[in-house]
Amino acid sequence: MNVQFDFHDRHVFVFGGTTGINLGIAQAFAGAGARISVASRKQENVDFALATLGARALGLVADVRDDAAVAAALATSRARHGEIDVLVSGAAGNFLAEVNSMSSNAFKVVVDIDLQGSFHVARHAYEHLRKPGASLIFISAPQSTVPMPYQAHVCAAKAGVDHFARVLALEWGAAGVRVNAISPGPIAGTEGMRRLAPQGKQGDELVRAMVPLGRMGTPEEIAQLAMFLGSDAASYISGAVIACDGGAQGHLTPMIAAAAQAGMAR
Ligand code: HXC
Ligand code: NAP
Repeated sequence: MNVQFDFHDRHVFVFGGTTGINLGIAQAFAGAGARISVASRKQENVDFALATLGARALGLVADVRDDAAVAAALATSRARHGEIDVLVSGAAGNFLAEVNSMSSNAFKVVVDIDLQGSFHVARHAYEHLRKPGASLIFISAPQSTVPMPYQAHVCAAKAGVDHFARVLALEWGAAGVRVNAISPGPIAGTEGMRRLAPQGKQGDELVRAMVPLGRMGTPEEIAQLAMFLGSDAASYISGAVIACDGGAQGHLTPMIAAAAQAGMAR
């Protein structure tokens, strides 16, 4: 990649930023000079992320479902790194399950992490954001617009995330805070794809059929969009949900159905 961003003197906080796509985003901002904070549930993931993010990075254990823990993590990061310039909210949970075999708690756990967690992160971040100029970026998914079998919980939660982002863009615009969402397509080497895509030749053939660009994306490609949205180059973009999916336009149902048929649903 030869696109360069400069985030020196900026504080970037990535919730759920310890593995996968979100860690790729944190690494990209760190590489562009930002002071980085990341948070997630598991100490081992926080340690793993910190080992890649440079000596100044701050790693915190916090569950986005825990209102008080989210508030505390954001306050700690403000004390260490100052006002937050870019906040990425990307914590999520996913598994394949038909509605008829889903318990109340199975539906709830995904909504609690993806949607209620997004509320906690945004609600408590507001006082710590640099105003004007800060940018909030939610990590959505194609499920937010395209109905997919075995994904009722994720479809409902991510649709809520998109609309929540649009409302925040209305409410926070006057303070000069921009709010957007990124909707990644299938991203190689991630937990999401381990859970939702058949592995090997079958998976490769499905991706070629579904994605006009003929391949999965990379965390680095999602990170480039996140850095664009967090930069002054995107100073008039707010309330947008932007796909980064190789042209698939969210149409990943064959992949989900094949994964379920391959026995990846419980
Ligand atoms: C049916 C299931 C299930 C499954 C869990 N449950 N897995 N039900 N089929 N495969 C049910 C449990 O039985 C329980 O209900 C309830 O869900 C909560 O499960 P817990 O294990 O107690 O929850 P918890 O320990 O909080 O873990 C949360 C989790 C887990 C979401 C279930 O998978 C997780 O931690 N995920 C984080 C990582 C992740 O999912 N990454 C992928 C993100 S990809 P009962 O009734 O028994 O109490 C993504 C989009 C990708 O988001 C888009 C690609 C295009
Ligand atoms: P991942 O590696 O599992 O990332 C999820 C992150 O969220 C982890 O760091 C996890 O760390 C954290 N997390 C989970 N539950 C949490 C909670 N309750 N509180 C705080 N942190 C929590 O998955 P991924 O595949 O890279 O997905 C990352 C994001 O991209 C998600 O928002 C997902 O919906 C979206 N997405 C992914 C794809 C894809 O192809 N993979 C496609 C479209 C959208 P802990 O376990 O330590 O908490």
